[in-house]
Amino acid sequence: MKKRLITLIHQNLAGLFARYGIEDYSFIDVQVPPDKANGDFSLNAAMKLAKAAKCAPQKLAAEMVASLETEKDWFARVEVAGPGFINLFLANNVIEDSFNKLVAQKDLVEQAAAGGEATIIDYSSVNIAKQMHVGHLRSTIIGDVLARVIEALGNPVVRQNHLGDWGLPMAMVIWKAGPEIAAIEQRKGDLARELTLARLEELYKGVSAECKDNPATAAACAECLVRLQNGDSQMLDLWHKIVRISMAEVYRIYRLLDVKLVEENECGESFYRDMLAETVAEIDKSGKMVESQGARCVFLDEFKGKDGSPLPVIVQKTDGAFNYGTFDLAALRYRTAKLKAQRIVYVTDARQALHFKQIFAVARAVGILALPDVKLEHVPFGTILGEDNKPLKTRSGENVKLAELLDEAIERAYQVVKEKNPGLSEERKKEVARIVGIGAVKYADLSQNRNNDYVFSFDRMLALNGNTAPYLQYAHARICSIFRKAGLDIDAFAAAAVVSQVEERDLMMKLMEFNQAVVAVAIELRPHILCNYLYELAACFSSFYDKCPVLSCEDAKVRDSRLAISNFTRRTLAKGLELLGISAPREM
Ligand code: ARG
Repeated sequence: MKKRLITLIHQNLAGLFARYGIEDYSFIDVQVPPDKANGDFSLNAAMKLAKAAKCAPQKLAAEMVASLETEKDWFARVEVAGPGFINLFLANNVIEDSFNKLVAQKDLVEQAAAGGEATIIDYSSVNIAKQMHVGHLRSTIIGDVLARVIEALGNPVVRQNHLGDWGLPMAMVIWKAGPEIAAIEQRKGDLARELTLARLEELYKGVSAECKDNPATAAACAECLVRLQNGDSQMLDLWHKIVRISMAEVYRIYRLLDVKLVEENECGESFYRDMLAETVAEIDKSGKMVESQGARCVFLDEFKGKDGSPLPVIVQKTDGAFNYGTFDLAALRYRTAKLKAQRIVYVTDARQALHFKQIFAVARAVGILALPDVKLEHVPFGTILGEDNKPLKTRSGENVKLAELLDEAIERAYQVVKEKNPGLSEERKKEVARIVGIGAVKYADLSQNRNNDYVFSFDRMLALNGNTAPYLQYAHARICSIFRKAGLDIDAFAAAAVVSQVEERDLMMKLMEFNQAVVAVAIELRPHILCNYLYELAACFSSFYDKCPVLSCEDAKVRDSRLAISNFTRRTLAKGLELLGISAPREM
């Protein structure tokens, strides 16, 4: 509706603007005023154009109002306010008409024109042989939402799990786990069952401590790394087994979280191993590479250390090994040349902000991007804190294991469901507990402005009131129950919506803002915009439901209209939650 409205305003005012000699007014947009008393939309164009028109803003506004008032079908009222604002009050039939058109559309999200923008989302990106901890939660779920949203808007999305799977830590695990793997295989044991990720992590911790005290161990691991990187088949075989054991556990958690990453999306550091030398050679060709203390580096003027000394990006270390950054530079070449990415989005915690700034700048400066105007965006996020406001840790001070945290969320959600709806079958209770528990954890994270740290609190995230997943899920289930009670098929129900009360009108207007919220998430890469929208929508539905009887309404046309509005609210909530990777149960 907003688009149609803006087009109408542009057309209506073209003549007036021409008389004032104003050529460029393409920027004119409408705002939703915070106070409904100031209309459904407001325009601040008169103030912006007054100078170009050589006319006082209030006078220009009055003339614009006079012109817009002729659009009787559109506006119930148009008025000048304050220093030259224009308040627009829509006619109810415009709202009804736009709303009914929207409801009839199959898809709630409008597709981008011209096939969209080829987008890569680099997220989750776990490290092999380490269990996922809460730090990985944010990248995984924020990245997953961004991928869903950008994809839903019609852009081809490639998900990339940039695994940390090629470096000294891997060599250390291979060295330590190798004999264990051989022993299990010799007695024809079940490798996946006997060598868990937890065990691998334990081995890794052991060997990394050992390397510090024992130079012989360190040397042996270093040798493993050389053999691995030179493609030694025995090393590669062990490496492969360790990667699969690790990822099996990671996928168990992805599935629990309903995150869309699959094996096909794995494109870890190892993937780029044969492209590293080439990448460094290409950087060299740019003439921007210098040797500094034996290492090969790129210095850019914009990066300085605290003391003002130049800050290098090291692309190859003194011993010939490549850096974390070299992998990213190789990946950038590959992603622009082979995957033809037009936009690449990296989701990691804020501590990597400088890393990405440097990598993006170096990639542009040395010209390794196959598509020079590719958009490169880092999506940083803050830390999850415990109730003590310090980074979330177990009582013994260790990182909290994600798997344990999710199990506890489900268990607590089960208690909530049991209390709220004791009549559900045991099986349904368990299913709803999973949906609500996981949804609550994800939503508590997504609904924060991602740059901020936030305090992890089971009680708050599972509350049925407030900006939580259970609140939205409950609103959804409640609408489904209205239809169940009436014996109506919610998926088939259709009726024309009409405005008979202000709460209906407000809810219809709110529903028409959904697409805008989705677009804003894709542009700003901030899922909380959609969360806030859904929360406001649910609140709007509550007021509607308070004031507008649905099933007990005697006027059949109004009753059906209210059912239609409720049903579309249900669809919008479900679609919004789906984009957030959260299920919407029909009863809870
Ligand atoms: N594995 C890295 C870590 O755990 C994150 C990788 C992010 N992606 C990238 N292309 N650098 O810190």
